[in-house]
Amino acid sequence: VGFLARPKPLAEKRVLITAGGTIERIDPVRYVTNDSSGKMGYAFAEAARELGAEVTLVCARTDGPPPGGVAVVTAESAEEMLEAVMSRLTESDYIVKAAAVADYRPLHRFDAKIKKSADTLTLELVKNPDILQTIGEWKAARPAGSRPYVIGFAAETNDLEKHALDKLHRKKCDLIVANDVSAVGAGFGSETNIVSVYGAEGLVENIPQTAKRLVAERVLAIAIDRANRETA
Ligand code: CTP
Ligand code: CA
Repeated sequence: VGFLARPKPLAEKRVLITAGGTIERIDPVRYVTNDSSGKMGYAFAEAARELGAEVTLVCARTDGPPPGGVAVVTAESAEEMLEAVMSRLTESDYIVKAAAVADYRPLHRFDAKIKKSADTLTLELVKNPDILQTIGEWKAARPAGSRPYVIGFAAETNDLEKHALDKLHRKKCDLIVANDVSAVGAGFGSETNIVSVYGAEGLVENIPQTAKRLVAERVLAIAIDRANRETA
């Protein structure tokens, strides 16, 4: 039985994907993190690989092993992830920022385990660098239509479109994949997702509840089409 090879629109393209939740250390045995499972980032890595891309997956804390056939880089904290991403910008054709980056990290990172003493303990947090925004500013200083094509995410519980478009403009990314993390069948830990994709002009497409892998395939198809039209 013969077979038709599936088209490989990402052949010879490099795709950088971040996945999982960052870990922000308090002391050697304790940290602050979030509920991200890394499933959406893994799904993007598999989908991009199947489309022929050379994939680099920057992983923070994730559930389960990463997919095969992709280069894996580990980055524990937001600051480590920023470094891992910025050092690979010029070689990337597409960037998919699926990671749930902690917005804040502990102001002090103690070298020794904190001993219990008083009845209350206050943990002071300081804002992390915004990786997506840093990428956007770097790209904005380059010629229009230049790579990489940047896909950001927006996790919201209310006013999805307003917040998503605000993030797209503020962080200067090309596409935003927005999801209502409070919806059943979407968001952290779920096998499926329900997303709306926005470009600078507004809503591009609503993707109804489906497996994260299929969400990734559809979002990549949209991104490839738009990136090709920009450079045509
Ligand atoms: N992001 C990032 N660096 C951060 C925080 C977020 O790169 N320090 C990226 C995420 O990877 C995601 C996008 O920004 O692609 C949106 O993340 P989200 O948490 O929804 O937005 P925030 O800008 O952090 O705003 P808020 O959490 O207040 O809604
Ligand atoms: Ca955030």
